[in-house]
Amino acid sequence: MAAMQLLSRRRALISTILLAFVFVSFALVLFGFTSNTLLPSLPSQLRSVLLRPADPPTIDLASPPAISPLAAPAPEHEELERVLAAADMGNRTVILTTLNAAWAEPGSVLDLFFEGFRVGNGTSELLKHLVIITTDRKAFERCASAAHSHCFNLDIAEKDFSAEQVFNTVDYLDMMWRRLDLLRLILEKGYSFVFTDTDILWLRNPLPHLYADGDFQISCDRFFGNATSLENLPSNGFIYVKSANRTVAFYKYWYSLRDKYPGKNEQDVFSYIIDDRRSLRKLGLRIMFLDTKYFSGLCERSRDMNLICTMHVNCRVGLKSKLKELRAVLDAWRKYISGLHYN
Ligand SMILES: *[C@@H]1O[C@H](CO)[C@@H](O)[C@H](O)[C@H]1NC(C)=O
Ligand SMILES: *[C@@H]1O[C@H](CO)[C@@H](O)[C@H](O)[C@H]1NC(C)=O
Ligand SMILES: *[C@@H]1O[C@H](CO)[C@@H](O)[C@H](O)[C@H]1NC(C)=O
Ligand SMILES: *[C@@H]1O[C@H](CO)[C@@H](O)[C@H](O)[C@H]1NC(C)=O
Repeated sequence: MAAMQLLSRRRALISTILLAFVFVSFALVLFGFTSNTLLPSLPSQLRSVLLRPADPPTIDLASPPAISPLAAPAPEHEELERVLAAADMGNRTVILTTLNAAWAEPGSVLDLFFEGFRVGNGTSELLKHLVIITTDRKAFERCASAAHSHCFNLDIAEKDFSAEQVFNTVDYLDMMWRRLDLLRLILEKGYSFVFTDTDILWLRNPLPHLYADGDFQISCDRFFGNATSLENLPSNGFIYVKSANRTVAFYKYWYSLRDKYPGKNEQDVFSYIIDDRRSLRKLGLRIMFLDTKYFSGLCERSRDMNLICTMHVNCRVGLKSKLKELRAVLDAWRKYISGLHYN
């Protein structure tokens, strides 16, 4: 008797649960709940990156997909568009960098990066065109509190990128790839950009030294004198990319190789693309290499202080050693400038 009662009570419980389930499902359909409303806590710009339907890899390289400027902008992209428009130089060109919390700390890389613009010759006004893409909330707050006008948070959910990234850990790679995808989105929106790492000091305006006809122009660890030769050793620290169907197709192709080379960062994959001359030809992209005489770095220092525009503190591992070198470059520059005044 007791067993029977238990059984019927359990049955009643199960039907109640089933009924509740059917009711909730019905309500979800009725009120048009979408993935957006089910993930309400994600910031809109992140949602747009995460929930955007995955682009199929560009296999047909010969006919790159068209950019359609007439397509209505998704509301999630509004913040990105607002920031880009505010930073625009007037010809749909912006300067971009990415920042995490460790590099945003007071006295860390961000402060020295800003100092470079201030002590550089005619570079301080370029700050109005700089968009800082932050990879975590702490860096975003620091960007905003540094009174910088254009901060955009690529809040990467569930992951904390605030600590100093150890080169090639899984999270670091994930962030680098997401950044690459954001750059593709910016090109698609019709903006050309100069991307600079934050450990690059802008001592003179480098824009006049960009080539007039290169779709994709990249700085070098080693430059051998020929701007179009694929033998130069590129460095992703400083890149100019012109918004065009070709360059969007290139970024899509680049991103699509992520799964083909698991555990590799986007710079490694970039060098595989450079080595794959057939695909490059199909993409029809005009890649040009920037002269280390103007776009310098510690890997290959420009010998002429009178020409240097940007100085990349590359070929140094670890934050402490980077900070030391950044300060040394700023000191050398200040000495050089004050020396000029006495002559
Ligand atoms: C865009 O405008 C800036 C500022 O006038 C200029 O320095 C830069 O060369 C221009 N870029 C292009 C691609 O025309
Ligand atoms: C700084 O810029 C001005 C104006 O372009 C130029 O005349 C001067 O030679 C530059 N000084 C240095 C140190 O580059
Ligand atoms: C520079 O490199 C390109 C591509 O490899 C080549 O076609 C061209 O002849 C080179 N120019 C010179 C001056 O060597
Ligand atoms: C991309 O191609 C489409 C169609 O071929 C064209 O209308 C559009 O202007 C192109 N966009 C750019 C940025 O070149």
